[in-house]
Amino acid sequence: MDSYADKKFSSNFLWGASSSAYQVEGASSEDGKGPSCQDIKKLPDGTSDLTICADEYHHYKEDVALMAQMGLKAYRFSIAWTRILPQGFGDINLKGIAYYNNLINECLSYGIQPIVTILHFDMPAELNKKGGWSNPESISWYENYSKVLFEYYGDRVKYWLTINEQNIDTLGGGDLGTKNIPAGLSSHLQHIYQQNHNMFLAQAKVMRICHKMLPDAKIGPAPNIYIVYPASSAPEDFIAAQNFNSIRNWLYFDVAVYGKYNEIAAAYLKSHNAYPNMNKDDRAVLCAAKPDFLAFNYYYSTTVSASDGTETVDPNGNLHTLDGKTMGDPGYYRNVLNPNLKRTQWGWEVDPVGFRASFRELASRYHLPMLVTENGLGAYDKLENGRVHDSYRIDFLRDHITQMKLALDEGCDIIGYCPWSNVDLVSTHEGMKKRYGLIYVDRKEEGQGSLKRYPKDSFYWYQKVISSNGKNID
Ligand code: BG6
Repeated sequence: MDSYADKKFSSNFLWGASSSAYQVEGASSEDGKGPSCQDIKKLPDGTSDLTICADEYHHYKEDVALMAQMGLKAYRFSIAWTRILPQGFGDINLKGIAYYNNLINECLSYGIQPIVTILHFDMPAELNKKGGWSNPESISWYENYSKVLFEYYGDRVKYWLTINEQNIDTLGGGDLGTKNIPAGLSSHLQHIYQQNHNMFLAQAKVMRICHKMLPDAKIGPAPNIYIVYPASSAPEDFIAAQNFNSIRNWLYFDVAVYGKYNEIAAAYLKSHNAYPNMNKDDRAVLCAAKPDFLAFNYYYSTTVSASDGTETVDPNGNLHTLDGKTMGDPGYYRNVLNPNLKRTQWGWEVDPVGFRASFRELASRYHLPMLVTENGLGAYDKLENGRVHDSYRIDFLRDHITQMKLALDEGCDIIGYCPWSNVDLVSTHEGMKKRYGLIYVDRKEEGQGSLKRYPKDSFYWYQKVISSNGKNID
């Protein structure tokens, strides 16, 4: 049952790689691009700003050629809303339209399928001034923007992702610079879940619009999913794991697929006075939309025990011990470290088996095809004589692909795998030094560097994985 060799990926499996506009493109105010919430957020001390990043805006041809050399079948990237609509709405910026036309055409010229994320953490700054997702108009802003993308790119883009990691935006948006929370608010959590609800409505409407405008395209949500384990066989720990799984994972897919709030998550929101206000036709809006697939990002798993009531909720969504305090949610769960797992240089627990468990759980709950839109290892890489010997990244990816294959063989319908990231790019909190790329980019935290690209050992390894359609992973 557990042997690797005799399992097969389908011949059209989407072996890909992944990025996001604000982390990879640079050119943050070029050719008419407006500022996004990322461009104006306060950066963690000592981390790179977002003006240059990997400068894919000017290196896209080279990057796509390298991806083609790797053999990629898909490139999952996001479109910067403010390149298309600098203010978030109003006049279309034709130079922005041209950039993604070029990128899409370049991908297609090599047979690389573009997988486009409509929004990846970079809400236009102008819209944030108007309240961002708190403003009920945000639903029509997002609809309008999505329609522009469908009109301009729908003839060539067949895979669309609605909102990257809506759950992380909700659980940890303050830290990401994406959340717009008025100062002195009495019900912080209710406000956040009202924003979350608006995102659900916007997503549902856009999935319907996509199906109407582009009958042969597919669209799906893309939250960050990891399985939550109970710390022990104590029944109370299992309940705690169910609590956190519901709030963090199932809420998002239950709404996207079934149009309804997960019961346990809804009870949690009500007990925290955080249940969103809903209009009478919201339920119908949510139910009218159906995703074609479930995309998800997976990096690690989490383990919880029963709460003892003393945990600290971090408003920024951090889950592990912070300043000596134990994180969690009093009365619901307490985050604990899993003694069975190793951790990365950045403290993230490495859990390939949890990847398999996540597929199995999603398959049983939702019965839809699954697309992995992110998975990868952030590390301090070292460029030595033009090479990066990242055997640690190869090990990480190999172990995850092995587990993905087991899930596939067990009946999970998996259509693609896009590790994060194609080239080194700016991490959400750790700048350039936390590298994920299969391709090294010569760029330092402080802004120096030639931006020259160097394929890492993982590039050549992934090339073999793809050319053997997942058979050769050694
Ligand atoms: C995902 C995001 O959460 O994780 C990416 O979609 C992000 O934008 C990636 O870069 C890795 O996280 P980090 O914090 O290490 O950059």
